[in-house]
Amino acid sequence: MKIAVSGKGGVGKTTFSSLMIRALDAAGKHVLAIDADPDANLAGAIGINGADGITPISEMKSLIFERTGAQPGSIGQFFSLNPKVDDLPDALSVKMNNIKMMRLGGIEKGGAGCFCPESSLLKALVRHVVVVRDEVVVMDMEAGIEHLGRGTARAVDKLIIVVEPGRRSIDTAGHIRDLAGQIGLTEILLVGNKVRGEKDRAFLEKHLSDFAFLGFLPYDAALIEADLEGVSPYDMSRAAQQTVQQMIAKLQ
Ligand SMILES: Nc1ncnc2c1ncn2[C@@H]1O[C@H](COP(=O)(O)OP(=O)(O)OP(=O)(O)O)[C@@H](O)[C@H]1O
Ligand SMILES: [Mg+2]
Repeated sequence: MKIAVSGKGGVGKTTFSSLMIRALDAAGKHVLAIDADPDANLAGAIGINGADGITPISEMKSLIFERTGAQPGSIGQFFSLNPKVDDLPDALSVKMNNIKMMRLGGIEKGGAGCFCPESSLLKALVRHVVVVRDEVVVMDMEAGIEHLGRGTARAVDKLIIVVEPGRRSIDTAGHIRDLAGQIGLTEILLVGNKVRGEKDRAFLEKHLSDFAFLGFLPYDAALIEADLEGVSPYDMSRAAQQTVQQMIAKLQ
């Protein structure tokens, strides 16, 4: 099962991804967790010790050079579009229980997107992880699906778009669906997050009636507390644990 998580900034992508990852781990699955959001801290949300100290792969300059044949950030040089990456998930991931976590990091973007050694390496890595590895993969992305190329998208089982009660998150969901459609990714499910009651739920269902919902995660002060305290949301909210367990059961 390969799951990619996207949605507007701040809707709860990292919170939701970390809950899924921990719940899958607790259910005995081997999980490969991919932090594909340059600003995110998925490791911290999972509850991995020393999360702040994890170097993103995009900043591993000698690795990028070794694998692609060119220095990161270089323009106009030849570099490999198909670098060796199959050893990286085991070599570079940080481990906790049955979870392996990789932090991809950000890429400096030029006008027409980045066509550079570091993006070549990250794309190849994501492709490998999604297409070849047999763990459950959960990828926490930004408000887009930048790391997914056409070949990778075909191997993604579900794109989960997190939405919250609000117009902008609804608009973003539509935009992400358009982008996904362009690369052939049509298996899309929504998760309604920060839902304060029946009115919020009805709002989301009304304005996103042409989407399918995997479920709804209630607004939960314990999740904010987890963020403030720097602990995993999974360890702070039994209610969120149970909700996400139900979602996982529906996915299988
Ligand atoms: N169900 C919820 N109830 C209350 N607060 C929540 C809920 N889900 C997430 N939050 C809070 O919303 C904030 C944003 O959550 P999170 O970081 O998971 O979002 P994100 O989509 O990953 O953000 P970004 O776009 O910055 O990566 C955090 O403070 C988090 O604690
Ligand atoms: Mg995030």
